[in-house]
Amino acid sequence: MKSIQSNIKKAKDYLNKNDCVGVPTETVYGLAGNAYSDAAVKKIFKLKKRPMNNPLIVHYSDINKVYEDCYVSDNFIKLYKKFCPGPITFILKLKKESKISKFVTNKQKSLAVRFPKHPLLRKLLKNLSYPLAAPSANISTKLSSVQASDVIEEFKSKIKYVLDGGKCKIGVESTIINLLDKPTILRFGGLDISKIEKIIKKKISTRANIKKKIAPGQFPLHYSPGIPLRMNAKKPKNNEAFVLINKKKIDFRNYYYLSKKNDLKQSAKNLYSVLRKIKKDGYKMIAVEKIANKGIGQAINDRLKKASKY
Ligand code: TXA
Ligand code: MG
Repeated sequence: MKSIQSNIKKAKDYLNKNDCVGVPTETVYGLAGNAYSDAAVKKIFKLKKRPMNNPLIVHYSDINKVYEDCYVSDNFIKLYKKFCPGPITFILKLKKESKISKFVTNKQKSLAVRFPKHPLLRKLLKNLSYPLAAPSANISTKLSSVQASDVIEEFKSKIKYVLDGGKCKIGVESTIINLLDKPTILRFGGLDISKIEKIIKKKISTRANIKKKIAPGQFPLHYSPGIPLRMNAKKPKNNEAFVLINKKKIDFRNYYYLSKKNDLKQSAKNLYSVLRKIKKDGYKMIAVEKIANKGIGQAINDRLKKASKY
């Protein structure tokens, strides 16, 4: 208990000095900085090697401070009440008088807002007088981090502190919903679209169905282990690591299980760490078994598809 308090204080001290800190969320680790501070936000982009035109998500402990920064809509309130804190990010209209650094949004008039569920991060947020801008804690285009040691592996000594909250429970990023006009899903993620549709009482279109790109972050290569990856593989070729979601009768050394019983949630939780492990084990190519495109399987397939653009 005492160490929790002192770790939160450590994180807070760094953040107050406009330094970046690794933080745990229920989805993936974030690279956090004071969202009101130009200096802190610029550091995030630099550390991550992220193009400045790719806006960041801002993390709040609850809805109260959001009113200072954004206009809220009925759909937002409904979804907030049902799912927050939790793995959903809302694109809302930014208020002119908001104190959010213009570097967070690349001067756009919208803001991505999220209420993470991890108890440590919630405690930290409640202790701060500002919300936290935090992209996933990885070098741009690379694999996201799902434990503190991944964050350190990504940034080495360039990051001053990581608040260790254990392994992320969900393992893939939040679902992003654009609420600027007709609700649209911009990124599949930890929260099932069908659950969102039940609350909004409408079928929601996904980014794949619309032409206009509003998330500049949707570059073709993303979530990449840094080696070629192919999906829907029936069997591996020579020298390929084979990623599976079902136990096979005969096991080979190059088999890596996301799950042994076709459990999609478990597969999502293990996705990034298994890919990281394969890379470390020295493989130069990855084949992945077909994964059902339903529920969180949609998020897994989305990440694999982008990783396969290598
Ligand atoms: O689960 C998550 O969402 C994690 C944890 C750390 O909270 N964060 C995360 O952040 O995945 P990042 O930066 O890796 O992905 C954020 C995505 C990017 O694709 C970005 O382009 C999009 O959100 N985004 C941010 N602000 C936006 C905006 N105003 N309009 C549209 N898309 C936006
Ligand atoms: Mg990311």
